[in-house]
Amino acid sequence: MLSLKNQFIFAPIKTGYSNGNGMVTDRNIAFYDRRSAYVGAVTPEPFYLDQGLRELPTQMGIDNDDKIEGLEQLVKVIHQYDTKAIAHINHPGRMANPKIPGNYFLSSTDQPCENGGKTPKRMDKDDINNVVELYKDGVLRAQKAGYDIIELQLGHGYLLAQFLSPLVNDRSDEFGGTFENRIKFPLEVVQTVVDTVNLPVIVRISGDEMIPEGIKLPEMIKLSEILEEKGVQAIHVSAGTVCSTPPWFFQHMFIKKGKTWELAKKIKQKINIPVIYVGRINTPEDIEKVQKEYKAEYIAVGRALVADADFIGKYLSEVKGPFRPCLACVEGCLGGVKSGKGLQCLVNPEVGREKESLAKADHSKKYAVVGGGLAGMQAAVTLRKRGHKVDLFEKDALGGQFNLAPLTPHKKSMGKLVPYFKEVLNYYKVNVVFEEAGKSDLISKYDGVILATGSKPAVPYIPGLNNFYWAEILLPENLPQNKKVLIIGGGLIGVDIATALIPRNNKVIIVKRTVDFGGDMEMIAKNLSLKMMKEKGSVFSDHTHIKNIEGRTVYAERDGVNIIFDDIDIIVVSTSMTSYNPLEKELNEHVPVYTIGDAKQVGNAQDAIRDGYETARII
Ligand SMILES: Cc1cc2nc3c(=O)[nH]c(=O)nc-3n(C[C@H](O)[C@H](O)[C@H](O)COP(=O)(O)O)c2cc1C
Ligand code: SF4
Repeated sequence: MLSLKNQFIFAPIKTGYSNGNGMVTDRNIAFYDRRSAYVGAVTPEPFYLDQGLRELPTQMGIDNDDKIEGLEQLVKVIHQYDTKAIAHINHPGRMANPKIPGNYFLSSTDQPCENGGKTPKRMDKDDINNVVELYKDGVLRAQKAGYDIIELQLGHGYLLAQFLSPLVNDRSDEFGGTFENRIKFPLEVVQTVVDTVNLPVIVRISGDEMIPEGIKLPEMIKLSEILEEKGVQAIHVSAGTVCSTPPWFFQHMFIKKGKTWELAKKIKQKINIPVIYVGRINTPEDIEKVQKEYKAEYIAVGRALVADADFIGKYLSEVKGPFRPCLACVEGCLGGVKSGKGLQCLVNPEVGREKESLAKADHSKKYAVVGGGLAGMQAAVTLRKRGHKVDLFEKDALGGQFNLAPLTPHKKSMGKLVPYFKEVLNYYKVNVVFEEAGKSDLISKYDGVILATGSKPAVPYIPGLNNFYWAEILLPENLPQNKKVLIIGGGLIGVDIATALIPRNNKVIIVKRTVDFGGDMEMIAKNLSLKMMKEKGSVFSDHTHIKNIEGRTVYAERDGVNIIFDDIDIIVVSTSMTSYNPLEKELNEHVPVYTIGDAKQVGNAQDAIRDGYETARII
């Protein structure tokens, strides 16, 4: 029995907040402390079983007794709230991080992941025995440190899934071939763990790896039945693999929500132990849906608790305030982990810095925030939370350029952010003034002015470039159909625009001065967008410099060779943005001025929100 105080579980999410020695850090503690109060159980990030098996250089480990003290502290923090601590134990096999010196790679096969990674050693019987011992030692340490539950990873394309998967497992010995052979080693691990600890054991699986020849539901149903017989207490049903189908693993905004719920439901129909549902359960409506329609006994929530540490608290009406939405973008969370900065969040600037609290101001002041884009809205809310009075000036629409983001086909979830900010501005009683801020008022009426006037497109000088669109081509009234469109600029905005043009039967040519189309994009979105563009016959022209335009003909140079794009109906310019900050000089000598977001330095949405928050936190 899991015996949790409620049905909500914080899902395992790599944070990368450790210190390079695998120890639990204050940053880890603060992050989980902030998220433990309202859920029934917390699963900290997977603990590595051996120094050479890390997925991140800054992952927490359970490979040695010297880790127990820190792991115990983490448990104590979680236990403060009568919340259970789940130790998630995983061996990555061939998916250990190839960039970490000293890492080694084992698998059911000697083939690397087709999307990168080192060539693994095909495990022999000794390797199998050694891995079983690693699990045994790891879970004993978890038990010693006070964890209440063990979760074993048999999914997501990691080592044990590399044995289960008919696609990856190409062995002809007793561990390969038939289902019975492929499950042998994973079951040995499970059995050993169940026999070793006096704790309930959960198994996490991918109900479907979402790739032809990969793990499919019928076998996972059979496996779940066997796991139940072996004494496993719950099955946690996810999907995808870290090697082949990361959009499914991470439940990216580009895929539809609900597939994992379907898989979980079908497994539940065949077993008596509880099934844990997971996958983009990130609104109160989703919770109600999986409870009522799917009869979920346990609900694991990952990113919604990253984006809003009080997501479950608010759902349970124990915390007041608007829900800060997770956009399923993985830009901040996965992006932060991959960049080495550690887990962050596009919408929540406090993620990863939970120790730095937001202090009430000693003296309440009156601030003007000029510009109601993401940076301005975040600054205004943060100042109000600190006890200041705030007027937020916006002459057009709140949200600024971010209002265009949800207009691309797979980014509808981005459309939750501006309404959230509107709600939260209202909640914290920010005075929003829908007019241009007057200079003399800014000087005379405020103790400080925050300039968040954003950026404008930097239009390159090209003779003949007279009629063109910028990103506003995404507006429904502008979006063309059956046209030949040349996009000048192949970064995030250019690629996003292309993905919106293609479904309307437009022929897309995209040109870039350098080589990396979508180079500034989050990896999963980039890969899926470029794949779609290639499949639909978009023309990519890198190293291309547009020289001049005459009528519908565009003259260009590619690697020193003259080329022509003819019969162009529409030109879109998405080359770069430049800061727009007309007020700073005029105000500077008269009133304290703080320039934030794109007006200071052009960046992405996360940069804008972080800058707005940070400036308002410290002034
Ligand atoms: C940055 C990040 C790291 C993750 N790391 C792991 C991991 O190491 N192991 C794992 O089983 N799942 C991992 N997950 C998947 C989550 O546990 C969860 O299944 C997924 O995020 C879908 O749930 P959600 O939509 O509630 O976030 C990770 C997810 C994210 C976004
Ligand atoms: S970065 Fe995006 S996906 Fe990740 S938690 Fe934040 S909003 Fe959700």
